[in-house]
Amino acid sequence: MLFSMTITFEWRGAVKNEEINQLHAEGFDHEYVEDDWSDVLWRLSLGWVTARDDVGLVGFVNVIWDGHVHAFIEDTLVAHRARRQGIGKTLLAVATEQSRKAGCEWLHVDFDDHLKSFYFDSCGFRPTNAGLIQLR
Ligand SMILES: CC(C)(COP(=O)(O)OP(=O)(O)OC[C@H]1O[C@@H](n2cnc3c(N)ncnc32)[C@H](O)[C@@H]1OP(=O)(O)O)[C@@H](O)C(=O)NCCC(=O)NCCS
Repeated sequence: MLFSMTITFEWRGAVKNEEINQLHAEGFDHEYVEDDWSDVLWRLSLGWVTARDDVGLVGFVNVIWDGHVHAFIEDTLVAHRARRQGIGKTLLAVATEQSRKAGCEWLHVDFDDHLKSFYFDSCGFRPTNAGLIQLR
């Protein structure tokens, strides 16, 4: 039987802390942590993208920024049950379009080696020099 479910993508859509915390724990493989996303998203983000199916939140990405021309991708997440169906790619496409609309000039991201194909080939990023210091 062929089964297809509609996925709805939304920019700055309503989302509960528990939904993101669940997806975060699953995506980054850690214990469930009760973080207050609603506070930081509204205070610090340019926006965020949610992806929902009939059951609930299956995708999320946060776009933080400097208030001017630089936007940064953080916490790209797709639920295990919904992976490799193009949801991650569409989350990033919405984030890119909305960052452009907001007047940003640059969209940044960093990631582990195994996601090169996802970010470079599927999402349109190009390699650049970047630096990182682990602070704790
Ligand atoms: C990374 C992630 C968001 C991708 O979401 P997704 O919806 O499965 O990705 P898409 O279906 O849009 O993938 C598009 C293409 O990117 C590449 N890709 C996606 N996930 C990949 C992976 N884990 N390894 C290698 N390539 C991958 C593939 O080329 C894929 O196309 P294909 O399925 O036709 O082969 C998801 O695997 C995830 O949540 N991972 C855990 C959290 C994480 O590591 N987030 C990134 C933080 S930087």
